[in-house]
Amino acid sequence: MATDAVTGPVPELDPAAVERWRRGGGELVELLTLARERLGGVAAVRIGPRPTVLVTAPEAVQHVLARHPDRYVKRSHRARLLIGDGVLAATGDAWKRQRRLLQSQFTGTGMRRYEQRIAGAARAAAERWAGYARTGEGFDVGEEMRRFALDTIWRALTGHPLDAGRARELTAVAAVVAALPSLPADEVEARDSVAADLARIDTVARHAVAAARDGAAGPDGPGLLQVLVDASAAYPEYTDRLLRDELVTLLVAGHETTATTLTWLYLLLDRHPAAREEALAAGGEGSPERREALQALVSETLRLYPSAWILPRHATEADTLGGHTVAAGTDVLVCPYLTHRDPELWPDPERFDPRRFTAAGGRPARQGAYLPFGIGPRACLGTQFALRESTALLEQLLPRHVPVFTSVPAGAVYGLTVRPDGPAPATLAPAG
Ligand code: HEM
Repeated sequence: MATDAVTGPVPELDPAAVERWRRGGGELVELLTLARERLGGVAAVRIGPRPTVLVTAPEAVQHVLARHPDRYVKRSHRARLLIGDGVLAATGDAWKRQRRLLQSQFTGTGMRRYEQRIAGAARAAAERWAGYARTGEGFDVGEEMRRFALDTIWRALTGHPLDAGRARELTAVAAVVAALPSLPADEVEARDSVAADLARIDTVARHAVAAARDGAAGPDGPGLLQVLVDASAAYPEYTDRLLRDELVTLLVAGHETTATTLTWLYLLLDRHPAAREEALAAGGEGSPERREALQALVSETLRLYPSAWILPRHATEADTLGGHTVAAGTDVLVCPYLTHRDPELWPDPERFDPRRFTAAGGRPARQGAYLPFGIGPRACLGTQFALRESTALLEQLLPRHVPVFTSVPAGAVYGLTVRPDGPAPATLAPAG
């Protein structure tokens, strides 16, 4: 239980303001921003028939995600139709088992196994970019980032580079992810409307699982899928269905987020070219200083655009949160996006300034003030992987090329992830 004095239910945003927002056809993020501005770090908004509690104050974020994950659980993940019972959507004992098995693969020695594969994918991207620079051919930066991130996670999962045919088939993943927020509420109808894409994804997954079952290791040795297939010998719950779900979960969780982050990063650098110069001035190629500076670029991008911009939870019991009572059954939205833009935590929050992550005292020390990868037991399994692949790519591309955008997206789409709201076509200028 929290020790603060309890002051009654969570203050709720005036229904007239919600109605105005609804009539104006605004984005959810606008309504949540209004609620935070008017009511503070724990605020209720009646988006549906019952109030949803928006949580942005760091202490309350900690309370929900890290201290009491048993009171605030994940429920009916929106992406379930795509990722099934994979670790992102699983709950209870099944989740614990799945998480334990995967965790060892994404930390310490487990991570080292991916170094070569990440480097291979970064080199392949660098070769493509060298080609664009030579020929002057235009390309889309968002598509390039997606291709890199998908190639990287595919290599980690299967041990093989992603070939063009599979890359084409896997565009179905992005299509389903983009469609998810607007699918019908009825599960059967929702499934029907993306049936063709789901079928394409299932075919790719079936082949990959079959290859892992045959023990067909890739050029860089067996992939993570092999570990899961091996686990299925000891744990009968790892059926072909769960293997498919885990594979698709890792594909979705492991590429959509990284790809949008890298796309935002390039769009931000386009507006702030000095940040690129500063990062490249820090140490030589491959030096720890350079890597730290590149990581700061990624961290600051993730502050402004944390791809998982809302983290939904459901209160299983009555609780006290930030001095307010929360009834059992309440839907809760933790919102890293708004926490990261709180001027009391982050001075001049709209400003892109990677030095926040390199200068002493540049970022708030309070736990819960920065959480692009979530916090607590359900925090991102791929944090190290994502940071490593991002810096590996930047190490290759940043010193050599500067994209010249022919147009830039005007804003953001706040769907399952926060992503640029249009293409980002560019040609390459040699870096000066
Ligand atoms: C910049 C890139 C990434 C960002 C911003 C990101 C963010 C997140 C966040 C915020 C969560 C927690 C969700 C919640 O609490 O509701 C999460 C969970 C997860 N992420 Fe990531 N992620 C990234 C990359 C990756 C990568 C590369 C992988 C896999 C290789 C991955 C795998 C996962 C998995 C499996 C979970 C679910 C963990 C669980 O529920 O136990 N993520 N991610």
